[in-house]
Amino acid sequence: MDKIVVEGGSRLKGDVWISGAKNSALPMMAAALLSEKESVLSNVPDLRDIHTMIKLLRALGAKVSFEEGVVTIKPGRNLKSVAPYKLVSTMRASVCVLGPLLARLGRAEVSLPGGCVIGPRPIDLHLKGLAALGAKIEIKHGYVLVKALKKLKGSDIYLGGSFGSSVLATANVLMAAVLTSGKTIIENAACEPEIVDLTQFLVKMGARIQGEGSPHLEIEGVKKLSGVEHTVIPDRIETGTYMFAAAMSAGDVFIKKCNPGHQNVVIDKLRQAGVRIDKTKSTIRVRRRAKLKPVDVTTLPYPGFPTDLQAQMMALMSVTPGISVITEKIYPDRFMHVSELNRMGSQVFLEGPSAIVHGVKKLSGAPVMASDLRASAALVIAGLVAEGKTDVHRVYHLDRGYELLEKKFSSLGAVIRREKE
Ligand code: EPU
Repeated sequence: MDKIVVEGGSRLKGDVWISGAKNSALPMMAAALLSEKESVLSNVPDLRDIHTMIKLLRALGAKVSFEEGVVTIKPGRNLKSVAPYKLVSTMRASVCVLGPLLARLGRAEVSLPGGCVIGPRPIDLHLKGLAALGAKIEIKHGYVLVKALKKLKGSDIYLGGSFGSSVLATANVLMAAVLTSGKTIIENAACEPEIVDLTQFLVKMGARIQGEGSPHLEIEGVKKLSGVEHTVIPDRIETGTYMFAAAMSAGDVFIKKCNPGHQNVVIDKLRQAGVRIDKTKSTIRVRRRAKLKPVDVTTLPYPGFPTDLQAQMMALMSVTPGISVITEKIYPDRFMHVSELNRMGSQVFLEGPSAIVHGVKKLSGAPVMASDLRASAALVIAGLVAEGKTDVHRVYHLDRGYELLEKKFSSLGAVIRREKE
């Protein structure tokens, strides 16, 4: 197994480009199953999760190729309906084949994803939405079986849960509804840019959807969809991660090929923290000379502060003089990084779903354990400003979601490398 070794102390300086969004590409790859015809997605990042989705689509009978950021998917006529445990257990996003398979085949059998390190991750909202379209749901031997005993029919569906809207439940219900006769209304739909991207992909395929980007989606079912070409949006979480890294290291980083319109809350918080941000339509320059100021943050569904940047924000606040409060409202248990950051000398105290962060002058490099994808990113950027060497173990988490991480950070002047354990 590999580890990432970071030598702290470099000021990040230079240009970095942003990859396509993994969380946009994954549901769109599943959506390609809605047509027999070939779809082509470009700007797809070369990541472990993308390769897992490719394996899953192949296991379902689709022909898939992936070359230089372009995924070509030809589902053909004879899809299979079973998404096996082996693949679903390695990536929760596999669950987003449920909607397309139900719509295309009238049935889907997907291994139930278990909990994960960021907390319990139920799929009740996915199932509630598909049941509202008329599907029968059964849980058997660790699999969820979703069957259309008779023709599915459009319906009014409220998709909010205790923690607000759900990104992949919205994706699943949307993908099933586009081929379901009649009108479906989804209330409390997720408004994340990844859902907007999916909506645009589906509309290109011939779907009839209104309300794009709002919590109220109206879908008029159509009989057939066609294959299309589409470019995946830039990854807003990768963008945010480089923004925090630049701010932490008192750097000057020019981020290219991103969408600043998706970063409003991050830009606002960083400006409050005393960081200078300049943006154009597709670039963001992050500069810091002054001392950082503490800022409180609460994670919320989009356009609120993303839970996927909570750990990175905590790394930044760890070295910011004063006290800040970070409250997690999407996954109240998503704090595995706290004890690892504290091993590096940060002073973070948990109070229920909030972390109280007492900024320290310096972090100190240490061997640390990555627990999930975003926690790993937080440990890497903490390592960049820590005194001495930080070894981030369990790098496979990072490989799920950050394309060319060492290369990109090195090009900004960081001393970072991958080593065999
Ligand atoms: N929830 C339910 N019931 C459901 C579904 C979700 O109660 O049926 C709850 C969740 O437990 C959570 C909240 O609703 O408290 C929101 O979860 P959501 O369903 O939106 O998460 P997701 O769609 O499974 C996606 C991203 C995650 C990201 C979340 C929140 C993908 C592949 N994953 O997951 O990304 O944290 O939205 O924004 O799009 C990551 O990239 O590291 C990652 C974990």
